[in-house]
Amino acid sequence: MLWGELAVAARAGIDGANLGLHGNNKSDAEINRALDMKLGRIVVDSLDELERVAKIASGRGETAKVMLRLTPGVHAHTHEFIATAHEDQKFGLSMAGDTTESAGLSAAEEAVAAATSYSNVELLGLHCHIGSQIFEPDGFALAAEKLLGFLAAMQAKYSIVLPELDLGGGYGIAYTPVDTPRPPAEIAQAMAAVVRSKCAELGIASPRISIEPGRAIVGTSTFTLYEVGTLKTVRVDAPVDAGGNQNVTFPRRYVSVDGGMSDNARPVLYDADYSAILASRTSDAAAQLSRVVGKHCESGDIVVRDVYLPEDVAAGDLLAVPGTGAYCWALSSNYNYLARPGVVAVRNGSARLIVRGETEEDLLNRDMGVANV
Ligand SMILES: Cc1ncc(COP(=O)(O)O)c(C=O)c1O
Repeated sequence: MLWGELAVAARAGIDGANLGLHGNNKSDAEINRALDMKLGRIVVDSLDELERVAKIASGRGETAKVMLRLTPGVHAHTHEFIATAHEDQKFGLSMAGDTTESAGLSAAEEAVAAATSYSNVELLGLHCHIGSQIFEPDGFALAAEKLLGFLAAMQAKYSIVLPELDLGGGYGIAYTPVDTPRPPAEIAQAMAAVVRSKCAELGIASPRISIEPGRAIVGTSTFTLYEVGTLKTVRVDAPVDAGGNQNVTFPRRYVSVDGGMSDNARPVLYDADYSAILASRTSDAAAQLSRVVGKHCESGDIVVRDVYLPEDVAAGDLLAVPGTGAYCWALSSNYNYLARPGVVAVRNGSARLIVRGETEEDLLNRDMGVANV
């Protein structure tokens, strides 16, 4: 979590011991706030940051509890993962050898050596996060094996005990019917078996294992309700269609809704797929290939790329897009000065507004040119 997320946790009365500070570019203010809130761990992302955390903790006469975020050279996305020796990304300390100025040492090992030398840093253990929307346990297993091997080597070489290992998040959810995530218990059992056998092979006691699921906890809790506005149908000439037929022509209906990339940036950011259903009534009308689009000034402003909706869908109908509980509201913006929608919690037939929708005043009151006119 970063600055504002810490503020939410503090205001909600969450015990800091249960929280961790993340980020590749933590400010001194964020590090100080983490120490003020007595956070359970600061997950250090770089050598530079480790030095700053030690300095800030020393200036306060305190000890900072630290984990080191390592990049094990395993990248996973959905059904695939790739393993590489070297890392070229902004997050984490590379485990690949000789990646720093100090010949022979990886950045990860340099950080372990430095952390153990600082009297006001308590090195709790190691952390990694290999990607998101992952369905198969293989990538997690390989990362766990690599980190455990490194943990054992560091314990032996520096005569230390690293009691914790955090294997990050990334557990996939179903956004569309083709997504088939495994039950959490199945993944957990596979991971536990890997950790157990690797620790036995290395002859070390198992560290305390933690994970950081994000979307797997909240993603499917929420759906977005949109109101249908303008409709139009275009003729598409395609060299080949989804069924493999060549030189085809087919109609595609564009269904415009009252939101879009400002409330769900994921399709435009990384081609994320969603589905949509007619939510305000039932319909026996034939299904028609449709593309649900937002109302922003971008032709890439797509909510659902391809979905079959009843052909009688009309302005005023409501569409529900499921799986929007993660990385949607949190990524939302006021692009085109659209007011962000509210969030309603529903349980056992009763509904409660938990985030109110923005008003025109909310939109204008930070703009010094018009706020007080
Ligand atoms: C360090 C870290 N842990 C956990 C997560 C959660 O990932 P997910 O929502 O894919 O489970 C993220 C997401 O970006 C992350 O950066």
